[in-house]
Amino acid sequence: MSGYITLDSGYKNTGATKSAITFLDGEEGILRYRGYPIEQLAEKSTFLEVAYLLIYGELPTKKQLEDVAYAISRHTLIHEDMKKFFDGYPSKTHPMGQLASLVCSLSSFYPESLNPNPTKEETELTMLKLVAKMPTIVSWIFKKAIGHPLMYPQNKFDYVSNFLYMTFGHRTEEYKMDPVLVDAMNKLLILHADHEQNCSTSTVRMVGSSDCNLYASVAAGITALWGPLHGGANQAVIEMLETIKNDGGDVDKWVAKAKDKNDPFRLMGFGHRVYKNFDPRAKIIKKTCDDVLAKLGINDPVLGIAKRLEEVALNDEYFISRKLYPNVDFYSGIIYRAMGFPTDMFTVLFALGRLPGWIAQWKEMRENNEPIGRPRQVYTGEIAREYVSMENR
Ligand code: SDX
Repeated sequence: MSGYITLDSGYKNTGATKSAITFLDGEEGILRYRGYPIEQLAEKSTFLEVAYLLIYGELPTKKQLEDVAYAISRHTLIHEDMKKFFDGYPSKTHPMGQLASLVCSLSSFYPESLNPNPTKEETELTMLKLVAKMPTIVSWIFKKAIGHPLMYPQNKFDYVSNFLYMTFGHRTEEYKMDPVLVDAMNKLLILHADHEQNCSTSTVRMVGSSDCNLYASVAAGITALWGPLHGGANQAVIEMLETIKNDGGDVDKWVAKAKDKNDPFRLMGFGHRVYKNFDPRAKIIKKTCDDVLAKLGINDPVLGIAKRLEEVALNDEYFISRKLYPNVDFYSGIIYRAMGFPTDMFTVLFALGRLPGWIAQWKEMRENNEPIGRPRQVYTGEIAREYVSMENR
């Protein structure tokens, strides 16, 4: 094929698709799901309602939300054979690796998901089962990691409460649902639910464009999200803050390291490909962080270090000139830790939140009959040459 190839490493200036799902304005720090400002959704909505909005394009009526909650309650169990996967994982298998393989394996139990030309009903059922089963899978990963008995969903709970029950509840006693945790979890999941064509969502679209099933497409998105430059940053932020704390809390020293081009260290949770202003999610999460820690009576020393880090960086020419601000990952890990999650579960929680966005984007890509993704390249290798026999090498 002749023609001019424009090289755009990292797709910094390439629009890969048209989408009606999420709008970002990086200069103004604006984020809207289906036109609704993230600030209003985080304050007034629930995660299940936002999932419905992202996937179907409209806020549900009371009956629509009740119907979808009931339909989900029919599918929250996962096949008992999936327990065998957990027994097979080496003990140090990262939860994100487990999540990707478990989600991908769902197609083995639900063959309707494998139809390359599914009926509308088959697609609806495939999406519904994934939304319904994800909290159970995530909670089981956590329970297995700490060696506690698995908990089963209880239909008396709403979507997010059920997740907290399965994660922090125990068979030995009645679980006391804490409204502070329910509210914080809803907010965090809403704030992570979609973010237009980020690395993991673009991966879901790319894999789905080959007519690959939803479960495998989302599993690919999970592996992309795992990277510390992407969703894995929420784990890397806490590890960074702990390192700074253990190093005597010398924030200025670490900010200087982040600026030093000869030092590979970066301020995790800082900077963003699109936001060249405050990430609107970071503002909300920072406030939620203060609220949750105060209500739970937790004084986490890394919160103070995070705030000091933010203050120093935001007044430093290096960060100002590059428009580097705290992003969604900078404070979220502090809340997850306060809620009782171990650090290596943080990105799994990001995936739980991002699931409806991945589903909505995969659905939109399929409905728009988008072609299989296949970018070109600028070739920089050897010119044509003849084979050299072994004795002449
Ligand atoms: C997420 O895309 C999305 O929407 C993602 C996400 C979503 O919801 O899906 O928002 C979630 O992934 C948030 C980002 C989480 N990652 C981190 O916090 C990791 C730390 N941040 C960076 O690695 C970086 O800022 C990225 C990866 C987020 C963005 O990288 P870009 O857009 O490719 O920018 P770049 O690496 O080219 O940096 C531009 C300049 C460089 O310096 P110069 O070459 O101009 O001298 O800024 C510097 C970089 O060195 N820089 C940093 C920095 N981030 C960028 N320097 C120090 N610390 C940092 N964190």
